[in-house]
Amino acid sequence: MTSLLFPGSFDPLTRGHKDIARRASKICDKLYVVVMNNNKKNYLFNLDERVEMVKEVLKEFENIEVLGSDGLLVDIFKDLGCNAVVRGIRSESDFRYEAEMALANKMLCPGYDVTLLPCRDDLSLISSSLVKEVGSYGGDISGMIPAQIVDKVNERLRKGRT
Ligand code: COA
Repeated sequence: MTSLLFPGSFDPLTRGHKDIARRASKICDKLYVVVMNNNKKNYLFNLDERVEMVKEVLKEFENIEVLGSDGLLVDIFKDLGCNAVVRGIRSESDFRYEAEMALANKMLCPGYDVTLLPCRDDLSLISSSLVKEVGSYGGDISGMIPAQIVDKVNERLRKGRT
């Protein structure tokens, strides 16, 4: 059985992330989507809240399981026994960042490998930060994130404005 691991902060999960998860789920038997922490980022939602939102959006895919972890990526990769990690890349700078991350992870875990999926052109300019920036000024974020989580994200951003 081939299993892949798609890790990310997903703060919040965007339509770009959903597209990567959908495509990755087609090239393996089982896809684990793991919500994690990147200690360079300040989050709008805590880990449990992000896991709940990702579960809600991806429940339509039968071979996807959503988990949360606040540890190292290589540890969950080993624990789950995955064949490789999947990451979406939007640009040359994403590629450089992913190459560096892959090198560091491979030093920690020699069996580590990564598959990079290019993002869909029309979704490549969407990022979680852009969603938060637009939403925090009251802009329409419904084209950027899946419909199931629009109200939740707007509500959290509204709280930040008061
Ligand atoms: N696919 C992926 N990201 C996309 C995307 C797409 N199709 N389209 C847009 N993006 C954006 C995201 O929205 C996000 O934007 P943001 O920077 O504005 O938040 C950015 O690309 C990537 O974020 P995301 O995919 O959510 O993940 P991340 O880069 O924050 O996550 C971890 C990185 C969690 C995998 C990494 O920090 C990690 O492994 N943490 C665990 C600790 C660890 O092992 N650290 C050592 C690593 S060497």
